[in-house]
Amino acid sequence: MELLENEIELVEKLCERLLLEKAKKPNTRLNILEIGCGSGKLAIHLNEVTGGKVTAIDPVHERIVTAKQKAQTSEVAFGVQSAEKLDFADESFDVVVSLKALHEMTNLWDTLQESLRVLKAGGIFFAIDWIGGVARTRSHSHAKKYFAMESKAHATKYFTMKRLEDELSKAGFAKVNVEANKECELMLAEGEKT
Ligand SMILES: C[S@@+](CC[C@H](N)C(=O)[O-])C[C@H]1O[C@@H](n2cnc3c(N)ncnc32)[C@H](O)[C@@H]1O
Repeated sequence: MELLENEIELVEKLCERLLLEKAKKPNTRLNILEIGCGSGKLAIHLNEVTGGKVTAIDPVHERIVTAKQKAQTSEVAFGVQSAEKLDFADESFDVVVSLKALHEMTNLWDTLQESLRVLKAGGIFFAIDWIGGVARTRSHSHAKKYFAMESKAHATKYFTMKRLEDELSKAGFAKVNVEANKECELMLAEGEKT
């Protein structure tokens, strides 16, 4: 598993939550969609931990090529798509997840509406992302990019915990909850489709 050190705590929490969902549906496999999967490490990890069927999408073709090369199993399917306009039927998935990707999506409203559309009733949306939309750990390889973005006017669009909570509620998710990791650097947000 190639998870970064700062991702492990919340990814473990996410996995615990997914295993609880799985326990509610004995004899069925979770059908999981990851949006903004990059080179696929979370999708592969979630398949290994939950045994669920994972579909993972990203609009960058090269990342999907890398992800396909990495995946050792046909249980994880990768495709080139944008989360803002998904090519899946309504109510296809039990869970939609994303890792450090939501802040990069141009239209958060469309992403959340599309996630709601493809979730089954009772399905859950989970997103792990930077608090504030910027990396605080200067040693992190992505940090320079985020620190540069901080000075730009559009930096105000990045997430606080409160903003992400509000956006999920406004989009129509119920039981919205957002929690921070110990360093208060990353947050795990969740909301349920009623
Ligand atoms: C910081 S990377 C994180 C990738 C991966 N989740 C990880 O943790 O390694 C953000 C990803 O979001 C993807 N992305 C940007 N806009 C997107 C969109 N509209 N729909 C889906 N993914 C998007 C990018 O292509 C990129 O792979």
